[in-house]
Amino acid sequence: MDDADYNRPVTPRTFTVRAASWRDDLAPLQDLRRWVFVIEQQVPEELEWDDADAESVHALALDGEGRPIGTGRLLPDGHIGRMAVVREWRRRGVGSAILEWLMASARRQGLGALHLHAQTHALGFYARHGFAAHGETFSEAGIPHRKMSLSL
Ligand SMILES: CC(C)(COP(=O)(O)OP(=O)(O)OC[C@H]1O[C@@H](n2cnc3c(N)ncnc32)[C@H](O)[C@@H]1OP(=O)(O)O)[C@@H](O)C(=O)NCCC(=O)NCCS
Repeated sequence: MDDADYNRPVTPRTFTVRAASWRDDLAPLQDLRRWVFVIEQQVPEELEWDDADAESVHALALDGEGRPIGTGRLLPDGHIGRMAVVREWRRRGVGSAILEWLMASARRQGLGALHLHAQTHALGFYARHGFAAHGETFSEAGIPHRKMSLSL
């Protein structure tokens, strides 16, 4: 390593995942989903919000300076959904940490199985966490999906 390496600024890439509530953390949860689903993926805003948000467990990932970088939710019936990580933080393990946090939450609740509708580009991501795909590909909000599930 030469002097140039020692002098190069280091950008911290630490993040944390914590429980969030739809009431107390509404702004960061909605901002994240608006950025990722409504703006980036062009999901119609009226499809993005539903009654399940109020009764779900929400995970919120924050960067080292407390800025929101990712989210996901777990419904009482074991459905995981709305997994979203801001583009500049993808492929750094944030999505995996959120998914593992939601899986741990499901185990604590005593749920026997988890289900989700995976966008087909993310099938490999969920498969690496033990989810198995089943059934035909179907369209939801204009995006191809497949059902996946996991026994806990
Ligand atoms: C799907 C999504 C949540 C995954 O989040 P993420 O933070 O990128 O997830 P991870 O970093 O844990 O893993 C994602 C990939 O990065 C890879 N990866 C993880 N850490 C890595 C690292 N340090 N270096 C290189 N690759 C890495 C993983 O192997 C995985 O590979 P894949 O692209 O083949 O799936 C994210 O891509 C996203 O928000 N996409 C847009 C919204 C969306 O499609 N949501 C899913 C709806 S079903």
